[in-house]
Amino acid sequence: MRVVIIGAEGQLGSDLVRAFQGEDILPLSENDVDIVNINKLKEIITSASPDLVINTAAFSNVPQCERQPEKALRVNTIGARNVAIVTGEIKSLHLYISTDYVFDGEKEKPYLEDDSTAPVNTYGLSKLAGEYYVRYILDRYFIVRTSGLYGIHRCISKGTNFVDKMLELRNKDSINIVTDEVLTPTYTLHLAKQIYELVSTDYYGIYHVTNEGECSWYDFAKAIFCEVGFDVNLVPINSSKLQTNVKRPKYSVLENSKLKTLGLNNMPHWRDSLRAYLAEKGY
Ligand SMILES: NC(=O)c1ccc[n+]([C@@H]2O[C@H](COP(=O)([O-])OP(=O)(O)OC[C@H]3O[C@@H](n4cnc5c(N)ncnc54)[C@H](OP(=O)(O)O)[C@@H]3O)[C@@H](O)[C@H]2O)c1
Repeated sequence: MRVVIIGAEGQLGSDLVRAFQGEDILPLSENDVDIVNINKLKEIITSASPDLVINTAAFSNVPQCERQPEKALRVNTIGARNVAIVTGEIKSLHLYISTDYVFDGEKEKPYLEDDSTAPVNTYGLSKLAGEYYVRYILDRYFIVRTSGLYGIHRCISKGTNFVDKMLELRNKDSINIVTDEVLTPTYTLHLAKQIYELVSTDYYGIYHVTNEGECSWYDFAKAIFCEVGFDVNLVPINSSKLQTNVKRPKYSVLENSKLKTLGLNNMPHWRDSLRAYLAEKGY
């Protein structure tokens, strides 16, 4: 299978390159092609003639998306539209990576793929609009919504990931962490392996793919320090105490419902994935 991976130097993209290593891969970074530029995109993808195009590229720094909404829409919406158009023209299969932030977080139970979307910030809105373009333009597509990513290649947009950030702060007297945002942190290598299995099927459509279980950012931080054996003073706080005007969903847990129905769900519990990640980092 010939596979184009867009965003290949990003956190998830680099693990997709690992998961698809037995295949004929063309990894593309922003230096190779800016997805906003449809002509260059068309030239590169058409000449590669892939069976599958995976688009992980995004402007995913949530506070920055709020400050630069035009850029968020340009990359996350128009960029997604461009990749879908080009993929459709060459009749390839497409996989678009989306987010838990398409939901408003008011449900208080894990979100299913068919639940109503209602993003509460610019990032979520720009990604949801990207999903709509993919659905409108293509017949053969996968949309994979995931959440709270961390991986060996740090998130380019954010400069780090939550696990590494906690480990960097371990010598602080205390660390304030929010208790009222609940999600499922997800290790990009395990997500990438699950995506590899999914694309070998023809069960197209929207999927939720995260690690299993759920936790608050506070629980996650506690688990990180427990796993590496550091004694750190974590102070539980409410998100209203954070000096930010960015709205985030309070509860954005995604149920891998369609994967489970199809008997395809191989995602480990978040705590097991955290252990695997820390082991890979040498802890
Ligand atoms: N991070 C999370 O917690 C999270 C949660 C849910 C969903 N997601 C989604 O998961 C996907 C992967 O996220 P990630 O954490 O791996 O992000 P990342 O590390 O920031 O990687 C994104 C990649 O996109 C590339 N990119 C950005 N703008 C581009 C453009 N205009 N044209 C071409 N490439 C461009 C960047 O390339 P360069 O490196 O060359 O700049 C970067 O490598 C995204 O679609 C994101 O929305 C992320």
